[in-house]
Amino acid sequence: MDNGDLKEFTREELAQFDGNGRRAYVAIDGLVYDVTHEESWAYGKHYGLTAGKDFSKEIMGTPHEKIILGKLKIVGKLVD
Ligand code: HEM
Repeated sequence: MDNGDLKEFTREELAQFDGNGRRAYVAIDGLVYDVTHEESWAYGKHYGLTAGKDFSKEIMGTPHEKIILGKLKIVGKLVD
């Protein structure tokens, strides 16, 4: 899929998807990923993070770094 076809999320819109009774989305490098059904993101929480935000910096230095993104569904792109 071309990035141009992706749904656009502002930071404010992304913040709605915090996984607390809603879907859980996180942004990395301008793309928005769905972590709703990841056990380790239950209730939108993962190692001190809360979904609905951009974690491009935070993901670096984690055990999985960006390799993990390959298993996640892209649901949109982040716009400023
Ligand atoms: C403070 C930042 C983070 C820390 C310390 C962290 C740490 C970890 C650890 C220790 C695991 C389990 C071991 C592993 O699967 O390698 C894990 C799993 C996972 N992490 Fe993170 N993580 C962080 C950020 C993120 C971010 C931003 C994402 C999403 C973009 C993410 C997505 C996942 C997923 C999907 C799993 C499950 C792996 C699986 O079961 O296949 N993590 N994380």
